[in-house]
Amino acid sequence: MELPAKGSSWETLKPLMESLKSNDYAWKSGRLPLYVYWRDEELYRVAKEASSLYFVENGLGKRAFPSAQKLEHDVISMVLNLMQADEAAAGSFTSGGTESIFLAVKSARDFGARNRAALGKSKMVLAHTAHPAFDKAAGYLDMEVVRTPVAADYRADVRVMEREIDSSTVLVVGSAPAYPHGVYDPIEDLAELSRKHGVWLHVDACVGGMLSPFIRKLGYDVPPYDFSIDGVSSMSVDLHKYGFSAKGASTVLFQNKRLKEYSRFHFSNWPRGVYATDTFLGTRPASPIASAWAVMNYLGEEGYLEMARTTMETKRRFTEGINSIPGLKTLEPGELSFLLYRSTDPEIDINAVADGMSEKGWFVGRCNAPSSIHLMFNPVHAPVAEEYLEHLEQVVSDVRKTGKISVLDEETY
Ligand SMILES: Cc1ncc(COP(=O)(O)O)c(C=O)c1O
Repeated sequence: MELPAKGSSWETLKPLMESLKSNDYAWKSGRLPLYVYWRDEELYRVAKEASSLYFVENGLGKRAFPSAQKLEHDVISMVLNLMQADEAAAGSFTSGGTESIFLAVKSARDFGARNRAALGKSKMVLAHTAHPAFDKAAGYLDMEVVRTPVAADYRADVRVMEREIDSSTVLVVGSAPAYPHGVYDPIEDLAELSRKHGVWLHVDACVGGMLSPFIRKLGYDVPPYDFSIDGVSSMSVDLHKYGFSAKGASTVLFQNKRLKEYSRFHFSNWPRGVYATDTFLGTRPASPIASAWAVMNYLGEEGYLEMARTTMETKRRFTEGINSIPGLKTLEPGELSFLLYRSTDPEIDINAVADGMSEKGWFVGRCNAPSSIHLMFNPVHAPVAEEYLEHLEQVVSDVRKTGKISVLDEETY
């Protein structure tokens, strides 16, 4: 497309854009197991109107927009409290999990550089299941990554990780939980490693941070994972996932202000005075900050608890339904809102089941170790459980009858 010589009216453009959307997956009908976190029109209106209210403001301009700064401060305080941090802790609002992780990795690298014995690249040690954002950050920051195999329950194997720690290691990572299997790494054991070797520990709670405290309060088993553990240096908690804020909203949190200083960029060697930022971006949209602030205040603990209840109840319905289909079995332990299922019948190729569900309009996440279908629930899925299970039963019976085998073996986002 070339830039049109003349502009068109919004009345022409809007329906055009809306019709383009008709080819997307029907997210409002629960067809996506990721990307969209949705309760209802009412919550959407709050997230969207708050976002529009700060559409123009720039998060870089702290002196110009003290109101945006106050909203940011409030949001960070609320998340720090949920993560059981104490008064010394501090944090920043970022554009997403990837930026939060980048900042934690950069801080760990710079912190480690002061007391590292070895020359050469700084190294981080993490489980095979940690998010790719760590390798992305390592690429940008010229660091080495060692990914270690997980234990039989898919959690980080701390003993294997410890063997990889040497004088170049500046960072150890744990996920709470990790995305591929939805299980929490043993953060208390990782914290012990971090204390013993004097290495920074980052806990990635991007996906779980805004759900774990609430499901724990509802009585579900959630292992310790936050700043209540001595030795957790930093955490990442996304608000655009289970925080239900507009996208572009995450937080990176530090055990204390001194550690946060390592994420800071401070510059004055140009004619325009001091330029200092705590995050990767320069100009930053203030709208996700406003959206997060409004949604968190609108929902309060009560609202999050209610959504957590719906989410876990939905997971229970799916789990029971899937396990009642002969030849399918859900994967254990499968914590938080995650559910993976695989085939226990050699005549059923789980990837052929995935293909069949895609043909029926469901966006299917696949896990390749073990070969399984990957689901993650939020309230958008509550009304579609029966429909999903009906389709699944049909697809499994079709695969069994026809002996279909999928040629697709690689997940693409
Ligand atoms: C555990 C975990 N960490 C990090 C991320 C990255 O978050 P984002 O896509 O917001 O950059 C995700 C995203 O799903 C995640 O599940």
